[in-house]
Amino acid sequence: MSTVFEILNKDCAGRIGKLYTAHGVIETPTVLPVINPNIEFIAPSELKNYGAQALITNSYTIYRSSRLRNAAIDTGLHTLLGFNGPIMTDSGSFQLYLYNDVDVPSEQIVKFQSAIGSDIGVPLDIPTPPDVSFSRAEKELEITLQRLREMKDIDCGDMLLAGPVQGSTFTRLRKHAAEEVCKIGFDLCPIGAVVPLMESYRYRDLVDVIVSSKQGLSPCAPVHLFGAGHPMMFALAVALGCDLFDSAAYALYARDGRYMTSRGTYHIEDLHYLPCSCPVCSSCDVKDLKDDVKLIARHNLYAIFEEILLIKQCIKDGSLWELVEQRCRSHPSLLAGLKAAVKHSGWIERVDSMPKSTFFYCGSESAGRSEVLRYNRYIERFEFSGKVLIKERYEKMDADGFDYVLDFKPPFGAYPALLRESYPFNAEVNDYDYEALCVAVDNVIRLIQCNPGALFVFKKPSGMKKEFTQQLKLYAEIV
Ligand code: GUN
Ligand code: ZN
Repeated sequence: MSTVFEILNKDCAGRIGKLYTAHGVIETPTVLPVINPNIEFIAPSELKNYGAQALITNSYTIYRSSRLRNAAIDTGLHTLLGFNGPIMTDSGSFQLYLYNDVDVPSEQIVKFQSAIGSDIGVPLDIPTPPDVSFSRAEKELEITLQRLREMKDIDCGDMLLAGPVQGSTFTRLRKHAAEEVCKIGFDLCPIGAVVPLMESYRYRDLVDVIVSSKQGLSPCAPVHLFGAGHPMMFALAVALGCDLFDSAAYALYARDGRYMTSRGTYHIEDLHYLPCSCPVCSSCDVKDLKDDVKLIARHNLYAIFEEILLIKQCIKDGSLWELVEQRCRSHPSLLAGLKAAVKHSGWIERVDSMPKSTFFYCGSESAGRSEVLRYNRYIERFEFSGKVLIKERYEKMDADGFDYVLDFKPPFGAYPALLRESYPFNAEVNDYDYEALCVAVDNVIRLIQCNPGALFVFKKPSGMKKEFTQQLKLYAEIV
């Protein structure tokens, strides 16, 4: 696959990486603000002040206007926009989705992107919306894939090529599309047609679309999530392996008086305070923002890049999942997304790295984390014989006469006390909820079943529900 992307750090399925382009390196994860050359909210030359490293613009908008087209051909895209960093150009697929009126063949629009000096070009894919019939999604995907195959014969110079993954809400089609995109060989793999899912807060479906696409891609491929621009969902998307985002949302939201935060959106009319310390919010008051949508757009961009920096710090620390759990608890639809992501813990576990920062048990979703699944796989490696005592770490109980002492700690279950300071058993777990106990008791039973020659004694934690004691009684002596 691609040699233009280098992965530096990993956490969950997320990573910090470097994407090499003709106009410089983009450190991911990051967001490419959408610049519309006809409607400028923020001058491209100022974007770097917000933390943006690159931008995205629509080549079809430029192509359609003879003024912009001629200027782009004469002076190049970077001069036209007044930006000397990496520029990605989209193909007009979004116009195809909105108005169904794109009259330029894919090959021509890609050649145009290359001619005006774009750093990353996108062919004309068909953004099949969610919930269409399978046969429509399949047919449109075949057309997209055919166009992508044709790209291989075009000389694009040093422009990187993106191969969008489509397939509507059919996970089987998404995976197939991703495998084909990988087979053809692209420098960047965007996941397309997810804007309608995000607009209607369908984060559960979004998670399934991202994961099924990722499962068909090479783990080394840089992945772009087309049209994602709200800071509250970046952590989840990054943890599932998305590296790049692009967003007009900072400007579109501002136009509607919507003020973004990593916890959600406020309407400016409802704000009594500005709960942010960015340069805009620390020098203006609510009334200033009500009177000037550009100020809201500027705040929105600051909020976006602040969240990106926090995500990157969390990846370095190995605490991205903790951030995901926090962010996803700020909206019920995101919580549904978190639950869907937990169902993919088996996949995350295979790509995740260990050890990382202390595991924080932050509620029932933590019981399904990849670290817990991984321990479940490791249980059969332990071999015990003789008498084995399982008790909580601080339980005062004489261990004389026992051959082994194991700590009991939900959601993991039981493990040799010697491992208690090691990751992930050094987890912060201050309260056992039902889900944590379910997983822990299942794991203890498995451990006992894997060691039929040993005799297990289980010191019941105070207050543990009777149903768990009843289950364990079949396998161990309860004291
Ligand atoms: N922008 C938002 N969604 C899409 C998509 O599916 N394809 C392309 N090319 N651009 C997009
Ligand atoms: Zn602000």
